[in-house]
This record gives sequence, C-alpha cells and structure tokens, in this order.
Amino acid sequence: MSSKPGFDRIAKRYRLLEYLTMGRMLEQTRLHFLPRLLTARNALILGDGDGRFLAQLLAENSNLHVTAVDCSATMLNLLRQRCTPYGDRLHTVLTDALSFTPPAGTGYDLVVTHFFFDCFTEPEIDELLRRIGPELEPSALWLVSDFRIPAGLMRLPAKILVRALYLAFRVITGLCITRLPDHTSCLSTRFRCLERKLFLSGVLTTELWQGADLFLEAQAQKE
Ligand SMILES: C[S@@+](CC[C@H](N)C(=O)[O-])C[C@H]1O[C@@H](n2cnc3c(N)ncnc32)[C@H](O)[C@@H]1O
Repeated sequence: MSSKPGFDRIAKRYRLLEYLTMGRMLEQTRLHFLPRLLTARNALILGDGDGRFLAQLLAENSNLHVTAVDCSATMLNLLRQRCTPYGDRLHTVLTDALSFTPPAGTGYDLVVTHFFFDCFTEPEIDELLRRIGPELEPSALWLVSDFRIPAGLMRLPAKILVRALYLAFRVITGLCITRLPDHTSCLSTRFRCLERKLFLSGVLTTELWQGADLFLEAQAQKE
C-alpha cells in the first residue's frame, strides 16, 4: 500500500501550477458532466483539492449536501473558504480516504473523484470501493476524471507527460505511485459506464458511471 502523500506543500499554488501546465483543460474536463449532477442530494467527494469543482457544484445544485474527504488540511481549508456560501450543506473530513468509512445509513447518490484515482494503486481503489460501496444508493452516480494513455500518435507524448507529472508529484508530495491505475476494471465490478468524454486528444477522460446492481439483477432475471 502507498503511504499518504503530502499535498499541503503544493495546495496554495495548486491552481496556478495547474493553469501553467495544463491551461484550462483539467477544468473543462471536471465540469463536463456537471449538468448531469443537478438531481443528486447527498454526495461524497474524495480529494477535491482546493474546492473549485465543489464550489461550482454546490452553487448549481442548491439541494445538494456534500461530505468532502481529503488528507491535506491546507487543501480542505481552501475548499471550505471557496465553499463558504454553502457551508451549511458541507461537511469536511480530514483523513486518508483509505481509512474513511461512511457512517451506516448514509446513502450517497453521488461520488466524485477528479484526478484522485491516479494517487492510488488498483488494490487501493478496490479497498475504497469496498469501504464506500455499502453506503451507496443502488443507482448512485460516480463521476471520475483522470489522465489516460491513448493509442496512436498521442501515446508517446501522453506517456512522457504522465511520467513527468508523477515525477513532479513524487518530489513535491512524496506520492509513491508511478503509473496510472486501471480504474475502469475496478469500477466495472459494480458500476457501468454511462458516458465518457475525452479531451486533449484522449489524454484526459471524464466518465459518468452508475451503480450496476439493479442493472445486473435485471440482466440475470432475463437469462
Ligand atoms: C492530484 S490532487 C487532485 C485535486 C482535484 N480533485 C483536481 O481535480 O485537481 C489529489 C487530491 O487528493 C488528495 N489525496 C491524495 N491522496 C489522498 C488520500 N490517500 N486520502 C485523502 N485524500 C487524498 C490530495 O490531498 C489532493 O487534494
């Protein structure tokens, strides 16, 4: 298992560094499916960083209550500041996501992980799913965005970019992960992908998944 990375050191400059390296591409990726999240009522957001996505989600969905989990106190402070107008609908938890177990009966109907799975190995993502799974509504949505290595001409540039980013995060935060996990195979065990949108010639992906329990039950009954 990887040890918890230290994002405190980078938190205040995170937005600037993001814009300098990737421009508005990550922002565009994160926000693509936001209009599909407007009926959610009870969300869990893991590692939202400085809270730019969450502030926009809370502004656009005025019925949404959110639990935001992050292991960086500075990131969570920035997130709370940014979400001040919606503070009565926000609960923050400072902890390693791998030791976070939602209280029984929580019933999340939405989970958001933007550029978060890339901080974990596949067994760790399985562990996250094992902890959170029991507290999800059967048809809960899971929004995930991440880097990916596309086939074709962009394969080599994407590999170089991802390797450079991992190296930078290792130096700055101590992140031990060195390759992108295959989050698709982890999520596929309980969710089905409703829609996927690629950006930057396939180097960035944002995906909307939905709990597949009901879907799998219906399939089993048909057979
Ligand atoms: C790469 S940043 C992504 C931030 C934001 N979601 C985005 O879209 O840019 C990863 C975030 O996850 C948090 N994080 C990383 N590992 C974590 C862990 N094991 N438990 C909780 N939070 C973690 C970091 O503190 C940081 O806020």
